[in-house]
Amino acid sequence: MTIVHIVLFQFNSTVDAAATDDIIKRMLALKDQCVRPDTGVLYIKSSIGGLNNSKEKYSDGLTHGFVVEFENVQDRNYYVNEDSYHKAFQAFTYGKIEKVRVIDFTPGEFREVHG
Ligand SMILES: *[C@@H]1O[C@H](CO)[C@@H](O)[C@H](O)[C@H]1NC(C)=O
Repeated sequence: MTIVHIVLFQFNSTVDAAATDDIIKRMLALKDQCVRPDTGVLYIKSSIGGLNNSKEKYSDGLTHGFVVEFENVQDRNYYVNEDSYHKAFQAFTYGKIEKVRVIDFTPGEFREVHG
């Protein structure tokens, strides 16, 4: 089952526009870097991102959003827990991101599936 991974960032005020662009580029580049070591295959199905332009009042300081799609839970878990490119990205952003919010879901799944 597809997993949709939503990531929202607020950058530190010390991070200028060029540094912001760099982080965004690196985030989106993960799609062309992250491979499963068992298969050597790129496993991020899609990855998009951009600047918030919501006219609603609910952005809560979050300025950039990303939507990353994985084929299945295993790929998502590998990305979150093990992928060295993802870890390197996180290390690179250390101290540069004021706030991050993440939620994942499987489209159409509205309750926890047990067993
Ligand atoms: C989100 O975008 C809207 C429209 O550009 C802007 O008015 C608002 O301040 C933005 N929110 C944040 C947290 O940047």
